[in-house]
Amino acid sequence: MPSSERRLFLIDSNKAEFESRTRARLSKVVSVGAFDKCLKLPSRLVWSHNSVDTVTCNSFHLALTFAAQDRFTVKSPNGIAFSEFKGYDAWQVIARSQTEDGVKAIVGNAAMIKAYNDGIPANGKAVPDGAAMAKIEWSKKSNAASPYAVAVPDRLKSVSFMMKDAKGFPDTDGWGYAQFAYDSAAGNFKPFGNGPAFAKTLCHQCHIRGAKASDFVFTSYAPR
Ligand code: HEC
Repeated sequence: MPSSERRLFLIDSNKAEFESRTRARLSKVVSVGAFDKCLKLPSRLVWSHNSVDTVTCNSFHLALTFAAQDRFTVKSPNGIAFSEFKGYDAWQVIARSQTEDGVKAIVGNAAMIKAYNDGIPANGKAVPDGAAMAKIEWSKKSNAASPYAVAVPDRLKSVSFMMKDAKGFPDTDGWGYAQFAYDSAAGNFKPFGNGPAFAKTLCHQCHIRGAKASDFVFTSYAPR
């Protein structure tokens, strides 16, 4: 990054101006290499926004900070907010799966991993309230550096969620469903569904068809 770019932000003390400049940069492609470099630079706390601390060091860092915040303001039309799954990017892997056009990671929060450790689905017990899973889906590409054929994630396509709350979701056997499609050009997530009905008529319908015997969960915990 040219140093002028960095100075531009450090002298921006007006909150509104600072925010509009940063938003204008959101649509730009963010380079991970530049971001890593940015993290090593001395940084400065500017202000707290949506309870997330924002630090300046250059425009790349700011763009990423704001992009991450935006996702947690998105809501599914059945009322489930993306923010209810905060931390999903660090949840433990249950298993991964692959289709013709993509690769996926299925991850679970601590309550879900405990349920697997306790023996679901073989023990016949229902998944307890508070358990949640995310299915993160990418398009795939082959890793050109590998001496053998290997498919690796390319673009992030979507993140789908299931959360167990027996009283909260009586119409879908206690499971709350939400899906957010990722637009990599714009760098933001769009909720799936035109109204609240999709969870019952689409998601749960198919999970009933294939996974009723395992409390509507398709994926088994893969040994490691
Ligand atoms: C046509 C069938 C079908 C529909 C519709 C469907 N799913 Fe699934 N879902 C599956 C299958 C099959 C799997 C497991 C295989 C895979 O994709 O990795 C799965 C896996 C999942 C998982 C990982 C946990 C598990 O059960 O294995 C989540 C989370 C999930 N789906 C959420 C959703 C959401 C949210 C919707 C609605 C927006 C939805 N699904 C709609 C078939 C479906």
